[in-house]
Amino acid sequence: MNELSGKLSAIEAEASASLPSVKSAEDLKVFKAKYLGRNGLVTDLLKMLGSLPAADKPDAGKQINQLKEKLLSKIGETESKLQSLSLDEALKTGVDITLPGRVFSEPGRLHPITQIMQKVQEIFMGLGFSVYEGSEIETDYYNFQALNMPPDHPARDMQDTFYVCQTSDVRRQTSEELLLRTHTSPVQIHVMKKFKPPLRMIVPGAVYRRDADVTHSPMFHQVEGLMVGDGITMGDLKGVLTEFLHQMFGAKTNVRFRPSFFPFTEPSAEVDIQCVICAGKKTLADGSPCRVCKQTGWMEILGSGMVNPKVFENVGLDPAKTKGFAFGLGIERVAMLKFGISDIRLFFENDLRFLGQF
Ligand code: DAH
Repeated sequence: MNELSGKLSAIEAEASASLPSVKSAEDLKVFKAKYLGRNGLVTDLLKMLGSLPAADKPDAGKQINQLKEKLLSKIGETESKLQSLSLDEALKTGVDITLPGRVFSEPGRLHPITQIMQKVQEIFMGLGFSVYEGSEIETDYYNFQALNMPPDHPARDMQDTFYVCQTSDVRRQTSEELLLRTHTSPVQIHVMKKFKPPLRMIVPGAVYRRDADVTHSPMFHQVEGLMVGDGITMGDLKGVLTEFLHQMFGAKTNVRFRPSFFPFTEPSAEVDIQCVICAGKKTLADGSPCRVCKQTGWMEILGSGMVNPKVFENVGLDPAKTKGFAFGLGIERVAMLKFGISDIRLFFENDLRFLGQF
């Protein structure tokens, strides 16, 4: 035992004496291996324990372990000393601690479709319109019949509409036929049945059609608008929609109204804005033809019209007294024009490299 104590003191003394010469992480590694490594001096002593008489083992084990602990704590101290020294050194040699830290996560942002949707709502709310939401599953009656689209209307074709599977005894073309709404116009009917005029409503929401290519998606978004009251005229329609388009695309944007047809409005008008890509010039700066407006200088942006008297009758309003206008706007189309995007599918692929640009 005395012999062991002697060895331990000798090792401790030697270790203490050589510690000041440990000046780097590399030195420290060597130091650690010398005493505590697989063939280190202290490790050798622990290996020797087995050959000692049983009575001596506990005390010997305790002494060796005490030395091991002491050495470990010295190694720990030296390690932190070396680290702070190397930091001081690095600072002296020109690390710019005022540089911003690395950013590992990006904040989330609103989807471009949501951004446009919110902008449209903001503009119409500023014009005194309230926001109303309908249901994405509709009956055939609300989506078509009440809007003056009779059972043989081509838009009701299975090719265009997603019908909801129902038990076989519910036949097509009954008023209980269920479908995914093909436009937001059925909400006009719900609104006029529920609230009395005067009305000023917009209805944002998703709509569904069996269509898929670069400019059509099976699910897309519309905003429906409805203004009903005494003495509303086509002049109100033109005024409200022009103001909206000026706020959306800039006050200098030219707007034109073209006669058109929708079953639920009479008269009807499609609304175009001057092409935002070629500024109405039909050709681009390099002289090449503008493909976005197909060299017409105009882009169609809205469907609109004066509410058809038949629609007023369907909701129990007197068409002789009640007048109003309605319109429908495709949100993806507005977003594509505003951001210069040529493929609608990009909006729904959830690629952060695309979405991060808005
Ligand atoms: N519902 C039409 C569509 O989806 C858009 C539309 C046109 C809505 C004219 C209207 C309107 O309210 O007056 O194509």
